[in-house]
Amino acid sequence: MNAIKPKITAIYGSPRRKGNTAELLQHAVKGAREEGGLVEEIVLRDLKMSPCLEIYGCLKSGRCAIKDDFQTVYDTLLASEGVMLASPIFFYTVSAHTKILMDRCQSLWVKKYWVEKIPAGQREVKRRGLFISVGATKGKKLFDGALLTVRYFFDVLDMDLWKSLLYRQLDFEYDIHKYPQYLTEAHKTGKEFVGALGTLPKRGEPSGAVAENLFPQGNL
Ligand SMILES: Cc1cc2nc3c(=O)[nH]c(=O)nc-3n(C[C@H](O)[C@H](O)[C@H](O)COP(=O)(O)O)c2cc1C
Repeated sequence: MNAIKPKITAIYGSPRRKGNTAELLQHAVKGAREEGGLVEEIVLRDLKMSPCLEIYGCLKSGRCAIKDDFQTVYDTLLASEGVMLASPIFFYTVSAHTKILMDRCQSLWVKKYWVEKIPAGQREVKRRGLFISVGATKGKKLFDGALLTVRYFFDVLDMDLWKSLLYRQLDFEYDIHKYPQYLTEAHKTGKEFVGALGTLPKRGEPSGAVAENLFPQGNL
């Protein structure tokens, strides 16, 4: 058991409540709690969350101007040391539920780079992220699009992508039961995640480490 109790947000991004990513994330959550992680679970399909309306109401303070369930999710994310995000692959990227959350975090991008004027590339790693995903097919590039999107989203949250669990050839509900080893791996990874969060700088202290600039302007 880890001495510190890091706060972790677990985000269920599938429209299926008992789908493959949901079961994987539940196992990771269980593992994290066994190690002392304080996990808050967020099921995106249960929330009332508008897509980003591109009105840039966030320009005033960096806070999104749309008053809906995103407001509490935003606070929860920023209060966490770790985020475990689970999304199926839909059209080679994350689900629409997940993408809506990501787009609403544009307010955070605005806060950092336009309101607080932090120079691009000067960011500290304050959080760590775990990404869990599955897709139906077996293509080599199945997760490429989602990984690019997730890394950019995590970057906005001052997170590094600590690890991803990516599983191919899972389609129907309960397909994951054919691969108990994946669930075991998710459980173990949830435990290890708590340990990895223990190596972050303490809240309020500068990390001293400036992360690599993942997305230098226009390089992708
Ligand atoms: C709208 C939609 C788009 C999908 N797009 C892809 C895709 O691009 N590639 C793929 O391999 N599977 C695709 N799938 C299959 C899902 O990734 C697969 O069913 C997965 O197991 C769902 O995970 P879940 O049970 O956690 O929701 C798609 C499914 C849906 C409903």
